[in-house]
Amino acid sequence: MDKQQQILITMQDYANIHMVPIISREGGRLLQEVTAAAKPVSILEIGTAIGYSTLLLAAAMAPNGKITTIEQDGARLEIASNFLAQAGKLEQVSMIAGDAGEVLPALTGSFDLVFIDAAKGQYLDYLHKVMDKLLPGAVIIADNVLFRGWVLDDSNAPRRFRTIIKRLKAYLDFVTKDKRFKTVVHHTGDGMAVSHYQGRANI
Ligand SMILES: C[S@@+](CC[C@H](N)C(=O)[O-])C[C@H]1O[C@@H](n2cnc3c(N)ncnc32)[C@H](O)[C@@H]1O
Repeated sequence: MDKQQQILITMQDYANIHMVPIISREGGRLLQEVTAAAKPVSILEIGTAIGYSTLLLAAAMAPNGKITTIEQDGARLEIASNFLAQAGKLEQVSMIAGDAGEVLPALTGSFDLVFIDAAKGQYLDYLHKVMDKLLPGAVIIADNVLFRGWVLDDSNAPRRFRTIIKRLKAYLDFVTKDKRFKTVVHHTGDGMAVSHYQGRANI
């Protein structure tokens, strides 16, 4: 087993013990497949947690790739920074502490891959706020879009999740109907939407 694999296992153990939600194994595999195919050089990740998916992205992106990642929990960001340093990837990652909804409008630069994995009720807001930073052909990957299957059938969903479910449906509705996106919704893990941006550069 190589060093990076060992670090990923240590991160999975840390996430289990400390109850930090990280991408599922299946979801992680799909994330890496899509990233490896796209060979992005400028990635935006929304929702770093302890940097597990950041490391998966870093391993699959172009060798000269860079990742900007946003997380509102400062303690998690600190842990992510330690893990990414151990993996020798910290220099390729720029970490921003704060609420993504506030950070995104002020963000400069353009991106060829965006991974959305923060507040589930805010995905559409995040997407609207990154639209002007997407390069033509950019890939947008959103995790947990089927949210325990309730986005397809909410008859057994607890009341407290209704708003999140409604908003995830609105996200899927947008990326499947807007002509600037070609979207495939994978039933892998908790559901992952992979959208290819066909629009023009807005930058
Ligand atoms: C599911 S976890 C991310 C997991 C990570 N992408 C992975 O797979 O390893 C979601 C993270 O988003 C963060 N988060 C939630 N709302 C946020 C917001 N409005 N702005 C920034 N981060 C947020 C949470 O603190 C949490 O660490």
